[in-house]
Amino acid sequence: MTITFIGHGYVGLVTATVFADLGNKVYVVGHTPEKIERLKKGDPIIFEPGLAELLQKNLEAKRIHFTTEYETAVGESDVVFIAVGTPPQTSGAADLSAVFTVAEKVGKHLKKGFTVVSCKSTVTIGTNQKVAEIIESVKQKDADFAIASCPEFLSQGTALANTQHPDRVVIGSDSKKAIDVMVALHSVIDAPKIITNLASAELIKYTANAMLAMKISFANLIALYSEKTGANVESVLDAVGLDKRIGRVFMNPGVGYGGSCFPKDVKALIQIGKSLGVDTMLLEGVDTVNSDARENVLQKILTSTQGKHIAVWGLSFKPNTDDVRESPALYIIKDLLQKGFTVTAYDPEAIPKTKAVLKDTISYADNPYDCVKGASALVVLTEWNEFKELDLSKVKELMKIPNIIDGRNIYDSEKTKELGFAYSGVGR
Ligand SMILES: NC(=O)c1ccc[n+]([C@@H]2O[C@H](COP(=O)([O-])OP(=O)(O)OC[C@H]3O[C@@H](n4cnc5c(N)ncnc54)[C@H](O)[C@@H]3O)[C@@H](O)[C@H]2O)c1
Repeated sequence: MTITFIGHGYVGLVTATVFADLGNKVYVVGHTPEKIERLKKGDPIIFEPGLAELLQKNLEAKRIHFTTEYETAVGESDVVFIAVGTPPQTSGAADLSAVFTVAEKVGKHLKKGFTVVSCKSTVTIGTNQKVAEIIESVKQKDADFAIASCPEFLSQGTALANTQHPDRVVIGSDSKKAIDVMVALHSVIDAPKIITNLASAELIKYTANAMLAMKISFANLIALYSEKTGANVESVLDAVGLDKRIGRVFMNPGVGYGGSCFPKDVKALIQIGKSLGVDTMLLEGVDTVNSDARENVLQKILTSTQGKHIAVWGLSFKPNTDDVRESPALYIIKDLLQKGFTVTAYDPEAIPKTKAVLKDTISYADNPYDCVKGASALVVLTEWNEFKELDLSKVKELMKIPNIIDGRNIYDSEKTKELGFAYSGVGR
C-alpha cells in the first residue's frame, strides 16, 4: 500500500520506517524543512536503537520519502496516519491543536476514491470523531474517507521491536471498509488484532498507560512503606510479582516515571474523568505518588550529602533513548541548583537534548568517570546498562566523598558498602 505519516517523532518515524521495511511505499510529512532535509540524508534526528540503520536501508530501497508537501503524499495514499504530538495543557488536558491543524490539511488533499485516515497520536475520547468532521468540511466532493483509530503502544528504547512484533494491534472504526483496509495493512504483523469502535480504541490507549503508570507508582508506594519498616522492597515485589494475577514486570521502584507519555496521559485521563463526572481519585493518587518518588530521592541527596558538588549519571527519562521530556533527572537537577548545589552530569545519549533545556547551568562530562571527579555524591537517575558495569573502586577514588544515591536500584547495596561507599537506594 501507499501510506503517509504526518509527524516524524518517536512514533511517526519509527512506524513509518517499519511499514516501509514491510514493503509499503511510505511518505513522511513534516513541517520543518531543515529537519526534512536531514531525514532525506538518513539522519533520524532522534535516537532510537537500530533506527538509523533501518532508515538508511529503506531510503536506499526508495520505499520511504520525506517531504513538507501534503499534496503528493496524501494525494497518493491509501492510509494517512496522524502521528503529531499531543502535549499537555496547563490543566493537564491534551492539547489537540496539532492534530486538528493537520487533519484540515490532510482533508484538503485526499485523493479521489477511498482513503483511511488514522490517528496514531494519543487523543482524547471523541477526537477521531472531530477529525472526521474537520475532514468532511474541507475535502473535495469526489474524495471518500473513513476514520480508524490505531493507537500506538511502542516503548522508546525498544520501539523498533515493539512495532515489528507488537503485543496487539488495535483498530477502532465504525466503518467496515476502513477496518478491512487496516487489517490488510497489518496482515503481515503477527499479533492479535483487536477490532473495536472509535471510543474504545481511544480509551484503550489511556487505560494501558494509566495501568503501567499505576504499577510504577504502586512499587514506589510500597518502597516508602519498606523504608519506614525495614522491609526490602525488592523482596516484597519479587514475592508479590510471582502471583500470576499480578506479575513482576514494570513494578520497579525508583525515581518515578517520566517521558512524554505516562505523565501527560495520566493527567489527561484525570481531565477526561472530570469532564465525564467519574471519580478520578485513583489516578490522582498515581500522579501524586510519582511526584513523591522524585521528592523521596531528592531528600536522600539532601540529607546524605556533605558537600555542594553532585555528579549525576543519567539524564534521559529511561535508558536507550535521548528523550528528556518530563525526565525525573531534570526535575531533580533543577531542585539541586535552586538549593545552591553545582552539578556535573553524564548520559550516553541525552546530553544534547539536556543542553537545550538546562543550557550551561550545569557541567557535562564526556564519560562517567570524569563526571564523578571531586563530587560529594553520585546520583544515579537513569538505569543505563553501561552504569551497571563500571569500576566502582575507580569511581570511589575519583570522588571527594564516596556517597552513592541510587535512584534506580542498579547496585547491590552490600557490595557498594563493602567498597567503602555510603549507599542509599529506594525502598531497601
Ligand atoms: N513516544 C512514545 O513512546 C509514544 C508511544 C505511543 C504513543 N505516543 C503518542 O504519539 C504521539 C506522538 O508522540 P511522539 O513521541 O512521536 O512525539 P514527538 O514530539 O517525538 O513527535 C511529534 C511530531 O509531530 C510533528 N508535528 C507537530 N505539530 C505538527 C504540525 N502542525 N504539522 C506537522 N507536524 C507536526 C513534530 O514535528 C514531530 O515530528 C503523541 O500523541 C504521543 O502521546 C507516543
